[in-house]
Amino acid sequence: MVRSDVRAKIEQLRNEINEHNYRYYILDQPSVTDAEFDRLFRELETLEKAHPELIVPESPTQRVGATPIEGFETVTHLTPMLSLENAFSIDELQHFDNKIKQLLGKDKDILYSCEPKFDGLAVSIIYENGVFVRGATRGDGTTGEDISANLRTIPTISLVLQGKFPSTLEVRGEVVMPKASFLALNEAAIKHNEKPFANPRNAAAGSLRQLDPRITAKRKLEFYAYSGQVIKGKALPLTHHESLQQLKTWGIRISPDNKVVQGIKAVQKYYEQLLANRDKLPFEMDGMVVKVNDISLQEKLGYVSRAPRWALAYKFPAEEVVTHLEEVDFQVGRTGTLTPVARLKPVAVGGVVVSNATLHNMDEIARKDIRIGDYVVVRRAGDVIPEVVRPVLEKRGQVKHIKLPLKCPVCGSEVVRIEGEAAARCEGGLICQAQQIESIKHFVSRKGMDIEGLGSKLVEQLVNEQLIKTVADIYHLSKETLSNLERMGDKSATNILQAIDKSKKTTFAKFIYALGIREVGESTAQLLSTHFSLEQLMSASEEQLLALPDIGPVVAGHIVHFFAQKNNLKVIEALLKSGVHWPKEIKKTTHLPLSGKTYVITGTLSRSRDEIKQDLQALGAKVTDSVSAKTDGLIVGVDAGSKLVKAQKLGITLIDETQLNKLLTSK
Ligand code: IVH
Repeated sequence: MVRSDVRAKIEQLRNEINEHNYRYYILDQPSVTDAEFDRLFRELETLEKAHPELIVPESPTQRVGATPIEGFETVTHLTPMLSLENAFSIDELQHFDNKIKQLLGKDKDILYSCEPKFDGLAVSIIYENGVFVRGATRGDGTTGEDISANLRTIPTISLVLQGKFPSTLEVRGEVVMPKASFLALNEAAIKHNEKPFANPRNAAAGSLRQLDPRITAKRKLEFYAYSGQVIKGKALPLTHHESLQQLKTWGIRISPDNKVVQGIKAVQKYYEQLLANRDKLPFEMDGMVVKVNDISLQEKLGYVSRAPRWALAYKFPAEEVVTHLEEVDFQVGRTGTLTPVARLKPVAVGGVVVSNATLHNMDEIARKDIRIGDYVVVRRAGDVIPEVVRPVLEKRGQVKHIKLPLKCPVCGSEVVRIEGEAAARCEGGLICQAQQIESIKHFVSRKGMDIEGLGSKLVEQLVNEQLIKTVADIYHLSKETLSNLERMGDKSATNILQAIDKSKKTTFAKFIYALGIREVGESTAQLLSTHFSLEQLMSASEEQLLALPDIGPVVAGHIVHFFAQKNNLKVIEALLKSGVHWPKEIKKTTHLPLSGKTYVITGTLSRSRDEIKQDLQALGAKVTDSVSAKTDGLIVGVDAGSKLVKAQKLGITLIDETQLNKLLTSK
């Protein structure tokens, strides 16, 4: 064949294959047999192999890149990727509808578009001139990670668009792992002695974060779009529903079961039907999403902070099933806490097989009167760890009381229960291998020092073989030690050492988090890092810590206690000596815009109190529960009660939602 003929043939094959993919994945109306499809595909592969200069990234043969990438680039979203307000009851749904009618000044029924709420991972995909050019995770909403190479491997994401598409289009939607693929993946993981994923969402997220797209490609992920935005070109239709249909004509897989209904009662009905069908759909949902269908009304309603006023996630209730409680073990956590774990006869709850569930602590066990041998109700809500709710007393036969062990099941040290605390604790401290393992896992985790490749299994192996005891020992691991481990190649050992070395350059906030001080999570670590240097933090008094918003006496106590322990100081010193460092900032003495101010929130507002609280705290304010002479302002929502009366008596400034929004944005 002459060159131009080859080019034309390749073009024709690609078009044909794309058309078949479109019919198969988007329209669900396959038009050829698998054998015929494979024949076309192989013909294209053969031609491309002979003429590699004619290969383009959007060719259907190019879904799976051959080489792993180094890491993910950060991308800034064209417009922020927002979240949704949640509702858990009919009342909250009704409130949403009332509010919309009130804001729009309408009393007629609103047209709502209803669709499933996918329990997966939000992504944004950009098409330029009909070609997939970039796909990114939601990240923090403003910036995400470029996971193009991984998204390209998902067959339900079209690499090229069909028909008369706009020149630049952004599509947003959810990547999910179907229940069946999830179960198969976990089965394989268990067989290979690997840790199974907790749920399909974690599995989808883990699969999309692979540096090697060949692994992602094997994970059987799927995509559903729930919105689109024309960046350049003819705008989308003026309703949400029609916009989705338009996306579909361009070859984009849209959310199934999308339906427009009139009025909130019909929304409720849709919800009930969806809930009844929950088990029949191949993917996990955690509720439905209801959106005002008319885009011009959406624009009128606008946004509050991070969520649109025109949409709502109406969540499904947690799922419950009954199974047999076979045994109770006690797990020792990072800080020595003993958590009773129920070993259950494996049972499926919402597409996930559960064989362990938390019993929280001994007080909970006593309160619920749960015994070994009971039939128990197990509940799983979203990504929350499954829990045992109650025993089924009618089914109780031979049972045994659950006893707290006197000695730690891991290190044999004494177990104590502190007066007034629910938790029982192993007194072994860092001589307890369980505590060593858990604190090291925490240290190397993504939110901590982020040492890639040093996973749970490897940490366990290193501690069990006494190669490391504390987190500081990680930085003294040698290539020889690592490559002598079972199932560890030279290459992997080198990669891990590189990751360890890379982790030395960190941020102060991550370092504080990684230390694993009790009850100091990511946001507290962040807060501490902006107010103190390491030296200042190590010598801070409880009073100094309490002066920060959001730090109460318990956390302050834990922090002071942590730095009072010689062992901890030694570990910190060793870490710094090994080269762990972060950019040193001069701590600002200037205050945040609302530093020193105290607010109280009352009544129903369009956002949850927690969210408002977080926003105020981010600006340095303190938010308390009761009104006093020290209160600087009372934020008043609908149906405010006694707090409002008290504030009026004391002459405290009242702040309504509009003023609040000004307060939050004007600074
Ligand atoms: S619309 C501006 N529709 O839920 C609103 N989101 O809790 C944009 N989600 O981050 C979201 N299914 O990842 C929308 N049918 C659906 C959805 C959906 C799942 C996710 C989405 C979002 C999160 C918010």
